[in-house]
Amino acid sequence: MQFHVIKSGAARKPTACAIVGIHENAAMSESARRVDRASGGAISRVLKRGDFAGRSMETFPIVGVRRGPAQRILLVGLGTKSGFGRKPYRRAIFAATQWLAKTGAGNAMSWLAADGVPGLDAYYAVRHGVESVNNALYRTPDLKTAKKPPLPKLSKFGIVVADADAELAERGVRDGRGISAGVALMKNLANLPANVCTPSYLADAAKALAKEHKSIGARVLGRGEIKELGMGSFLSVTRGSEEPPRLIVLEYRGGKKGDAPVALVGKGITFDTGGISLKQPPGMDEMKFDMSGAASVFGAFKAIATIGAPLNVVGIIPTCENMPSGSATKPGDIVTSMSGKTIEVLNTDAEGRLILCDGITYSRRFKPRAVVDIATLTGACVIALGAHYCGLFSPDEKLAAAISDAGERADDRAWRMPIGEEYAELLKSNFADLANVAGREAGAITAACFLWRFADGLSWAHLDIAGSAYLTGSHKGSTGRPVPLLVDWLLHSG
Ligand code: BES
Ligand code: MN
Ligand code: ZN
Repeated sequence: MQFHVIKSGAARKPTACAIVGIHENAAMSESARRVDRASGGAISRVLKRGDFAGRSMETFPIVGVRRGPAQRILLVGLGTKSGFGRKPYRRAIFAATQWLAKTGAGNAMSWLAADGVPGLDAYYAVRHGVESVNNALYRTPDLKTAKKPPLPKLSKFGIVVADADAELAERGVRDGRGISAGVALMKNLANLPANVCTPSYLADAAKALAKEHKSIGARVLGRGEIKELGMGSFLSVTRGSEEPPRLIVLEYRGGKKGDAPVALVGKGITFDTGGISLKQPPGMDEMKFDMSGAASVFGAFKAIATIGAPLNVVGIIPTCENMPSGSATKPGDIVTSMSGKTIEVLNTDAEGRLILCDGITYSRRFKPRAVVDIATLTGACVIALGAHYCGLFSPDEKLAAAISDAGERADDRAWRMPIGEEYAELLKSNFADLANVAGREAGAITAACFLWRFADGLSWAHLDIAGSAYLTGSHKGSTGRPVPLLVDWLLHSG
């Protein structure tokens, strides 16, 4: 998809479809009046007849427009004027694009941001616009054998902005494209079935990404090297699996040579059966998404490389399967992590923290200015926050505030949750330095506290994305989150 910014003063070019926003119970906006006038009153006739009320997400196509530069006009509801802002704006673009995708329109021109969107400057209005168009056009690569519906013809998308906003808007297009590319990469990887997306597959994807972008380097370590590093905690998770583990190390070099990098550590469990602490069958297929943290690191790298962000980032992805077998780790087994700390594995289904703690320890060799781990870590986080916010945990006030602000701006929100000694103490073990689980209570917090024990002296945050990374039910699939949050934070972190 090609996006271009059009200055409102110069918006006279012919277009297959003009997208115009209508507010509920309000007069036509400036831009709607302009398109209406050019089309000889096509919009006001519809509104006068009472055919379209402007409710959020609703669309009303006017086809066969005979006058003016647009062959079609698509009215999109923006809801009430007082409720208008980022969410209804994004929804309007999403709905408009879904309609466009079903038509033969090859290009479109959106007027939805031309009168400004409350709470957004032109940069964010355009960036959100680009992301929403791409989200609406995303198709999961599937293995369905039935004939596929035709692909959308839409290939050019113009965004009209006030003349003075053109420069900000251009930056919005650039960053929106980058974020969309990252989101699409995350979705593509996370939606793959676990018999395709194995640790070795992810390793190949890392090399492919490095080949595509000169600014990215990829290194892949196998079992022998992982053992040599002393990652006994990581390796304990792989014992039951026939698939060999991998440690993927990505490096993005966009900053100065000596600039301390940010480290992103992603959970790459390509399938989580629970191991000997086997999960219940219902919904177990969704545990193919247990590598969403890893996929979000890929996505963030894709985005910042596309954008050319001026900073250095390392990505650390421990990846393996969690399977039961005769050689699998058993409840009560004690393992030694790379940090030297010993861990009593009381529940083999709490495996994410076991691979992440070694990933966090490994990140120290890069002397990072911040370390953020991203993981579908706990069902408890899904119970606490549902799908709308991911959980954000950090003892570092500044880092926590920066990440939660980024989530707000990126429309990919994170809710800060507590960590503290009272919770960390629940991980006491009679036989090792710590246990990998505490009781049922505060499960998302005690999981975060486990990782905290390995982040001493680091500026560290943890994102529990178990509820936000993918949808279940009839819309089952990866959401691409938290790529927008991560990229927004990285772009502001320099
Ligand atoms: N991958 C799961 C967490 C998860 C659960 C993600 C549901 C998405 C949806 C993780 O490895 C896990 O199994 N966690 C356990 C921890 C428990 C044993 C302390 C959980 O949440 O039940
Ligand atoms: Mn598990
Ligand atoms: Zn898991």
